[in-house]
Amino acid sequence: MARKLAAGNWKMNGTTAELSEVAALTAAISDATCEVLLCPPATLISRMADMAQGTGLKIGGQTCHSEASGAHTGDISAAMLYDAGASHVILGHSERRADHGETSEQVAGQSAAAQAGGLIAIVCVGETEAERDANVTLNVVGTQLAESIPDDCDLSKLVVAYEPVWAIGTGRTPTIEQIAEVHDHMRSALTERFGQGADDIPLLYGGSVKPSNAADIFAVSNVDGALVGGASLKAEDFGGIVSALSQA
Ligand code: PGA
Repeated sequence: MARKLAAGNWKMNGTTAELSEVAALTAAISDATCEVLLCPPATLISRMADMAQGTGLKIGGQTCHSEASGAHTGDISAAMLYDAGASHVILGHSERRADHGETSEQVAGQSAAAQAGGLIAIVCVGETEAERDANVTLNVVGTQLAESIPDDCDLSKLVVAYEPVWAIGTGRTPTIEQIAEVHDHMRSALTERFGQGADDIPLLYGGSVKPSNAADIFAVSNVDGALVGGASLKAEDFGGIVSALSQA
């Protein structure tokens, strides 16, 4: 089985006041048997990384540029995230794809840059509601997966997150059968492309994961963890998800 990972995505939330949640989280996860990651806004990475020292908590970024440095106002490089104390970076989140027009080809470039900069790339894919209704979910996810991961990817530094766009922040989740179908499809596609090494790539589900539905989702085959938005903001909720994954 791939290593288990509970990843929190704080999105554009959090200032100094919310660092108290990190202190509470490090205490709550002291018995965790899975990896635990928080991806705060870039402004908090360094301070959170200091707080996470010596605990089981890892810290990540929410995007990075495909180039190592240069004239890209407002952007952040993999080396900068690494230098601030990040071990992972979320790439190609549907909010980045929608708000900033990021394409899968760009995400592949970011993934390569992230790995070259020493980070684990968490590549996100997922269909819109219209695509699910049109019955093209597996095609959409398969194409995004194929195009967002570079050919020379270091599989030991890759995580994939399946996040149906319509399930993000809505309180709605796919059925267990729908999650299983997509995750099995992703595992097969990755194995076909990369060989047996793909068995160890953690496949996360994301979209309205909370303590009350986490155990059912973690029982699904080829679900190795979760990418959690809203419920990662409170240590109590995220701690509940981490303990569900530890017991899965
Ligand atoms: P959510 O967000 O848990 O708030 O639905 C998930 C995500 O966007 O990663």
